[in-house]
Amino acid sequence: MIDIAVLGYGTVGSGVVEVIDKNNSSINERTGDQIRIRYVLDLRDFPGDRVEEILVHDFDIILNDPDVKIVVEVMGGVEPAYTFVKKSLLSGKSVCTSNKELVAAHGPELIEIAKKNSVNFLFEASVGGSIPIVRPLNSSLTADRILEIRGILNGTTNYILTQMADEGWEFDKALSTAQQLGYAERNPEADIEGYDACRKIAILSSLAFGKSVNYEDIYTEGISKITARDIQYAEKMKCAIKLLASSTCEDGKYYAMVAPFIVKASHPLYSVNGVFNAIFIRGSEIGDVMFYGSGAGKLPTACAVVADVVDAARHIGKHIRVAWSAEKLELTGVKSATRRFFVRVSGKRVECEEKIRSVFGDAEFIETDEAADEFGFVTPPLPESSFDEKLNSIPGVIGSIRFEEK
Ligand code: HSE
Repeated sequence: MIDIAVLGYGTVGSGVVEVIDKNNSSINERTGDQIRIRYVLDLRDFPGDRVEEILVHDFDIILNDPDVKIVVEVMGGVEPAYTFVKKSLLSGKSVCTSNKELVAAHGPELIEIAKKNSVNFLFEASVGGSIPIVRPLNSSLTADRILEIRGILNGTTNYILTQMADEGWEFDKALSTAQQLGYAERNPEADIEGYDACRKIAILSSLAFGKSVNYEDIYTEGISKITARDIQYAEKMKCAIKLLASSTCEDGKYYAMVAPFIVKASHPLYSVNGVFNAIFIRGSEIGDVMFYGSGAGKLPTACAVVADVVDAARHIGKHIRVAWSAEKLELTGVKSATRRFFVRVSGKRVECEEKIRSVFGDAEFIETDEAADEFGFVTPPLPESSFDEKLNSIPGVIGSIRFEEK
C-alpha cells in the first residue's frame, strides 16, 4: 500500500481523486502496488463529498505522517506550494505537480533536493495537459540534440481563437466559456497575455537544452489585442491566427518567444483547434516529432498527474535523473529573426500602395469586404528590427501580426 496526499481540491485536485477512484484497479495493476489517497488538503470544507473524511486543513499532518510517500501538489501559484513541496521532498516524500508557475520558478532547485533525498519531483502535467511531453524529453528523446520546440501550449487561448473564428463569438464570450469548462487559470490574464505559454516553453526549453531558461527573459505577447477583424483578414488569406510558443538553438545561440502568428492552411498547427495543444520537437537526427492532445481540462490534466504518481510509486527510494541544471541559459533577442509580417493600415489602398512598396518592396495586399476604410498587406521576409524601423514610416498603421513561415 502506498499512501498519497493531494494538496488542493480544485479542478485538477478533484480530477486526481476521480481518476484514482475510477481507474483504481488498472492503476494498481500498473503500479504493482495499491495507491491509497490518505489525505486531501484544502482550506475549504466539502460536506457530503467523497473526501470529507480525509480532508485536512493543516499541511503538517501530511508532512509528519511517514506513511505518506507521495505528495500531489495541484494548488497552483508559487506560494504556499513551493514551501509545501520543498518540505515534502526534504522529508523523503516524492512530489508530483501540475504547477507550471512552481516548476518554471524553482524547477532545478526542487529536482536537486529530490536527487539528494532519493525521491522524485515529477511535473508531466505542468505542460500540455494530457500530452506526454516532459517524459519524452527526459527519456525517449535523450539520444538526439534538440534544435527546436514549437507549438500551441495554451488551451484557453487556442479555444478562444477557434471559437472567435468558427462561431464569430466575441473574445469575452469565448473566455468565459473556457473558464466554465475549467481550462483557464484562476487569473485568466496568465492565459490571454501569454504568461502561461511562456512558463511552459521555459520548462520545455530547460529540459531540451539542459540549462535553466528564465521565463522572464522570454519575449512574450498574448492575444488580448487580436480582434475579429484580424481573424477576417487571416481567413481571407486562407490562414488562422494561433498563439505559438517556440525556442530554437541555431549556431550556438538560443531564441525563445511567445506571440500570435498567422499560420497557413497547409501548416500542421493550422488544424489544431479548441482546447487542443500540439508541440513539434525538431532534433538533429530524428527530424520532426509531433505531440498532440488535450492541453487543459480537469480529467486530461489529472491523468497526467496520476501517471506521475504511478511512476513515483514504481521508483520509491530511487531518483529518476532529470537533466535540468541550475546554470542559466542566455537567450538572444528575437529582433534578429527574419520573417514576413501582416500589417493593417487605415485609409485607401490606392493612396498608400506606392509608399508601402517603396518602403517594403514587393508587398502583397489584402482587402476584405467587411472593411472599406482599411486594408492589409504582407511584407517580404525581413529581420524584426528592420520591420519595426520601416513600419514607423508608414502612416495609419492599425497593427501587425507575425507570419509563421514553416
Ligand atoms: N490555463 C491552462 C491552459 C491550463 O489553458 O492551457 C493548462 O495548463
